[in-house]
Amino acid sequence: MKFSLNIDHVATLRNARGEKHPNPVTFALLAEKFGVDGIVVHLREDRRHINDSDVFLLKELLTTKLDLEMAATDEIITIACEVKPELATIVPEKRRELTTEGGLNVVDNLETLRNAINRLHSANIPVSLFIEPEINQIDAASSINTDFIEIHTGIFANSKSEDEMYDEMEKIRLAVKHAKKLQLGVNAGHGLDYLNIKEFRQIEGIDEVSIGHAVIARSVFFGLEEAIHTMRNLIKNG
Ligand code: PXP
Repeated sequence: MKFSLNIDHVATLRNARGEKHPNPVTFALLAEKFGVDGIVVHLREDRRHINDSDVFLLKELLTTKLDLEMAATDEIITIACEVKPELATIVPEKRRELTTEGGLNVVDNLETLRNAINRLHSANIPVSLFIEPEINQIDAASSINTDFIEIHTGIFANSKSEDEMYDEMEKIRLAVKHAKKLQLGVNAGHGLDYLNIKEFRQIEGIDEVSIGHAVIARSVFFGLEEAIHTMRNLIKNG
């Protein structure tokens, strides 16, 4: 299971004062040095954290890979086609949400998503769709030629009891199996942290986890190197 770091919160901190610090690009380069497998950013329509120039600079300077999270809007697709990230992850985006609230409804938005994937593919950008661990959503995603899915792990992460958590893990296990049968790459993320990763890592077949808030928050206390090494170690060894 590879580990990509989402650095949106570093840009949030920078923007809080309208200053240049902390610089998310410098932070990303350090994160690479400390051993992450890739960097994830979400270029939102309202540019509340990461902005266009961050994204272009990241693409130029990263030596691992850039996963650009994005809504399937004309403006952001055009930017993505110029940036050419190593992966474009399409997510649903609502203006007033604090963070991404759940997976895409691929079944009901087939044509919009098909067009977005076609445009990104014609710029040679592999695409991932952020979805719930549901068989009908995976089938729909596969039918429009996505390369990857990213399974939304928010329900697993927020589960209120062990039963709920194990039920959701079982759902994710079946979803991963199904996606692999369809030859899709499988990423996962949202709400994963230093406690729940110990259970989550036992699910087989997930190519990569995308983690942001927990690692950035821990780095405030213990530094980025410690935060990354501890997460890497948990992913590998539990
Ligand atoms: N994956 C996706 C698609 C997301 O939108 C987010 C949140 O930005 C994450 C992963 C990372 O979530 P968290 O910050 O809770 O680790």
